Amino acid sequence: MIPLVKVGLPSKENLMPQLEDILYSGMIGEGDAVYEFEKRFQKMFGVPNSIAMSSGTAALHASLILSGVKPGDEVITTSMTAEPTNIAILQVGAIPIFADVDILSGNLEPSSIEDKIGNKTKAIIIVHYAGIPCKLKEISDIAKRHNISLIEDCAHALGARYEENGIGSIGDFGIFSFQAIKHMTTVDGGFLSFRDNNKLRDAKKFRWFGMEKGISRTEIDITSIGYKYNMHNVAATIGLAQLNDIDKRLSKHIDNGNYFDKEIPSISGLTVPVFDSVAKPSYWLYTIFSEESENIEKILNGVGVQASKLHRPNHLHSIFRQYSCDLPQLDKYYKRMIHIPCGWWVDLTAREMIVDALKKG
Ligand SMILES: Cc1ncc(COP(=O)(O)O)c(C=O)c1O
Repeated sequence: MIPLVKVGLPSKENLMPQLEDILYSGMIGEGDAVYEFEKRFQKMFGVPNSIAMSSGTAALHASLILSGVKPGDEVITTSMTAEPTNIAILQVGAIPIFADVDILSGNLEPSSIEDKIGNKTKAIIIVHYAGIPCKLKEISDIAKRHNISLIEDCAHALGARYEENGIGSIGDFGIFSFQAIKHMTTVDGGFLSFRDNNKLRDAKKFRWFGMEKGISRTEIDITSIGYKYNMHNVAATIGLAQLNDIDKRLSKHIDNGNYFDKEIPSISGLTVPVFDSVAKPSYWLYTIFSEESENIEKILNGVGVQASKLHRPNHLHSIFRQYSCDLPQLDKYYKRMIHIPCGWWVDLTAREMIVDALKKG
């Protein structure tokens, strides 16, 4: 079966010597490997000030706190995402306000975001779903016009670009996840980037119990709550090894995505996502649309290709039900969408076989 998602690690020769060194170095917590990883990741993906964290969810939590979101505030968000996007809003005691999506991409629709802005709105979280950049120009204009913090959840979109900017660098905050099945994994891990470099000190304190590193523990004074959200040297060492060849893996996702973009629209009954012409997706998953999505799923499963939906619209969970509202575009999008594998493990033969099976179906 060609899987929809797959764990990608560097080869043993490229990973194990460094991993063994760090494991027995006596320095396994947060240290130089983490700081080196931060520098290299930041440069490679063109994101501004940043810190490595223990998970994407930790980075989301930090972005909300650093945006000044307080209990009872409202955060505009999407239901079409993995649950951590919205769980983080509840973690800070805020209220998720679900905006509707653009039926052609599954990403938040700018006009729906603007309709939902009220005097309690403190932040907007957008998700570049499946690796397709949102309509960033329109959304960042809205956020600026209303003076609201814009958080880009880039967990699916490592390596995507928008008008030549690295994804995550346009909003006030960008968050990344290095959880097991993402484009790049550090087993678990995350990254937070932010435009305002005055936030660096607070961000670092937030990831370490509210304490500043480098000050003696007997003299330090904690003034605000922080968490144990740091990345450690072991994860950072895996991350550094990943950065040596992540370009190759990302370009396979992108090449496969471009291939499907070209081939699938000519197949009767199927359409593919539409996105801004200045957006360059990184295709974590590929999404196709059909009135008969269940049949497509069966046809592909029958030829050994895992194809399915991946996330449950979050407003359907009991915990979010009280915030649920009509999302007619999302309902239509969700009914018609189906993900197919698109990552580095899908070779030329496999992708042709997928297209052939879709044509025959
Ligand atoms: C869209 C999205 N946001 C946030 C997260 C949270 O990332 P992590 O699992 O690293 O906490 C994930 C991953 O599960 C995700 O898919």
